[in-house]
Amino acid sequence: MPRKARAKAIYVLNGPNLNLLGTREPDIYGRTTLADIGKMVAQQAKDHGLGVVFRQSNHEGDLVEWIQEARTKAAGVIINAGAYTHTSVALRDALRTLGCPIIEVHLSNTFAREEFRHRSHISPVATGLIVGFGATSYILAIDAIASLIEEAAA
Ligand code: DQA
Repeated sequence: MPRKARAKAIYVLNGPNLNLLGTREPDIYGRTTLADIGKMVAQQAKDHGLGVVFRQSNHEGDLVEWIQEARTKAAGVIINAGAYTHTSVALRDALRTLGCPIIEVHLSNTFAREEFRHRSHISPVATGLIVGFGATSYILAIDAIASLIEEAAA
């Protein structure tokens, strides 16, 4: 893989309420904290020779700005937009400006839950989706994005 692609990081962006992971509805989201997920993700990415920028915000505008930053700095974006998944045209528009692979991630299987969670503004602009595997969804997303980046560079 060329040096340039390796030099860029994977942006892993987390939306509202995900800072409460571990204590928030553990029967749905599990007991793993976001800090634990951050560590697991960093290790998994390192095994692929990739760096990670791991962030969380409860504010839609922060997420928009980080996606805009990713336009020049990211080799790929993994996003769990939390409830903004189902409401945010602004996130969708920002993601559409990216030239790199985008993986939409959810801990829970959103399609097996309330109807309002079945609709995602992000899915149509994502390269792929990984939902329903708890914290492991993030690990699978790292593997998926690493293989997309390697394929693109081959
Ligand atoms: C979630 C699913 C969303 O519907 C919900 O609003 C979240 C978490 C998930 O990871 O399962 O906050 O994105």
